[in-house]
Amino acid sequence: MRAKPFIKWAGGKRQLLPELRKLYPESFENYFEPFLGGGAVFFDLAPQHAVLNDINPAVTNLYQTIKDDAEGLIQLVSEIEEATPADKDEQKQYYYQLRSQFNEGLTSDTYDLKNAALFMVINHRCFNGLFRVNRSGEFNVPFNGSSRPSLSPENIHAAAESLANTEILTGDFVDACEKAKEGDFVFLDSPYAPLKFDSFTNYAKEGFGLEDHERLATLFRDLDARGCRVVMTNHDVPLIHQLYEGYSALVVPANRMINSNASRRAGSVEIIVRNWT
Ligand SMILES: C[S@@+](CC[C@H](N)C(=O)[O-])C[C@H]1O[C@@H](n2cnc3c(N)ncnc32)[C@H](O)[C@@H]1O
Repeated sequence: MRAKPFIKWAGGKRQLLPELRKLYPESFENYFEPFLGGGAVFFDLAPQHAVLNDINPAVTNLYQTIKDDAEGLIQLVSEIEEATPADKDEQKQYYYQLRSQFNEGLTSDTYDLKNAALFMVINHRCFNGLFRVNRSGEFNVPFNGSSRPSLSPENIHAAAESLANTEILTGDFVDACEKAKEGDFVFLDSPYAPLKFDSFTNYAKEGFGLEDHERLATLFRDLDARGCRVVMTNHDVPLIHQLYEGYSALVVPANRMINSNASRRAGSVEIIVRNWT
C-alpha cells in the first residue's frame, strides 16, 4: 500500500495534489522537500531517493523514528492510547498530562522514541493539528475532545518503507537544499505569506517573515540556476508575484481544490510557481 501522511498539519497540501501532480517531472534524480510538515507531496510522489527537512525537531524526530523503529513507535503509541480513561473529563486531564511529558522533551531538547510517540498522540488530540509554542518553547494547543486512535499500523509500516531511502534533516530550508543539483526535483512549501501585507508583523512572530520569503525566492532562483526542477506554492498575493516575476505561475481557484470550503472561497487562492514552461 502507498503510505499517507500520518500527522495532521496546518497548511497540508492534500487539497492541491490534483494540480501539483501535473507538475511532477517524469524522471528526476533526488527529491528535496525542505518544508516537510505532513509530507503530503512526498508520500504522493513516492520518490526513490529524498532529502526531507523541517525546522521543527519534533516533526523530524517522528519521521526519523518511523524510519528506524516503526514497530517501537506503534507499540508505545498503543500503550499510551490504551491508558486513556473512559470518562470524558478524565480524557481531558490525560491529554494535559501527555502534553506536559511532551514538553519535558521539547524544553530539554530530548527527541527520542517517547517524544515521537507523545507527538503522534497529541497531534491527533489537539485542536486542528496545530503546532504552537509559548515563549518558553512549550507546546500549548488545547485538547480537541477526541481520543480516537492516532495511527494505522499498516500506514506506519508503509511510511517506514517510503522513508527507507531518505535523509532526514532538521534545520533551515537553505541548508537543506545545499546538495541539490542538476536533475533534482525540489518542492518548496513554506509557511504562507499573509493575505494582507500588513499582517506580516504577526507572521514574523510565528517565525516566517518577509525576509524569509525573500530568502526563499533567492533560493528558488539559485536552484533554477543549478539546473533543478523547482515548484513552490503560496497564497496568490502581490508579494509572491513580485518575488517570482518571470516564472510560470498557475493560480488555483478554491473550486479546483479537493474539499474546498466557504472560508477558502473567501479569498485564500493558491499559486503554484515553477521554473519551466
Ligand atoms: C506549510 S507547512 C508544510 C506543509 C506540508 N507541505 C504538508 O503537506 O503538510 C510549512 C513547514 O515549514 C516549516 N518551517 C518553517 N520555517 C522553516 C525554515 N526556516 N526552514 C525549514 N522549515 C521551516 C514548518 O515547521 C512547517 O512544517
